[in-house]
Amino acid sequence: MTTIHLPELCLVALIGASGSGKTTLSRQLFAPGEVLSSDAFRLMVANDENAQDATRDAFDSLYFVARKRLARGLLTVIDATNVQADARKRIVSLAKEFDVLPVAIVLDLPEDTLLERHRARTDRPFGAHVIGQQVGHLRRSLRKLQGEGFRQVSVLSTEADVGPARVVRERLY
Ligand code: CTP
Repeated sequence: MTTIHLPELCLVALIGASGSGKTTLSRQLFAPGEVLSSDAFRLMVANDENAQDATRDAFDSLYFVARKRLARGLLTVIDATNVQADARKRIVSLAKEFDVLPVAIVLDLPEDTLLERHRARTDRPFGAHVIGQQVGHLRRSLRKLQGEGFRQVSVLSTEADVGPARVVRERLY
């Protein structure tokens, strides 16, 4: 059983390549209002969750909402690939701005699993090579996450880790 202990108030970065199951896991672990998904914001600002030209507007909007939530003292989850250091830097810096702990939940599933899922999807128009690139970024990032400022890093590497995963929230005194 994978139990992830989180402070009641923290900023959670989901990290994983497309198809690693971030959105599926976020539904398993968190309440719907707690999860800010870059796809959902692309859909809201551009009617298309794959609209890459809407990335900036989508993230500006996502961060606007994240700030409103953190100002209310609400745990917030950022569901985006976050495989690039720049994306993660922005998350750590937001956590610092509100004096909450930045934590990472990483989905590092085998590339074959991701490719198999990608082939089965009709909602991701990009080529399979993109998955390989994202996996490469992720693998190179893994050792750096603590140094980047994530106070807690949970890595789920198999479907057996992910399936029964649950979160326990702990009050910090
Ligand atoms: N999926 C699956 N088994 C899982 C988790 C996900 O077969 N245990 C499938 C989902 O049904 C979906 C695809 O994999 O078709 C992607 O799942 P999702 O949770 O959306 O993954 P994300 O990492 O959020 O993908 P993206 O970054 O592309 O939004």
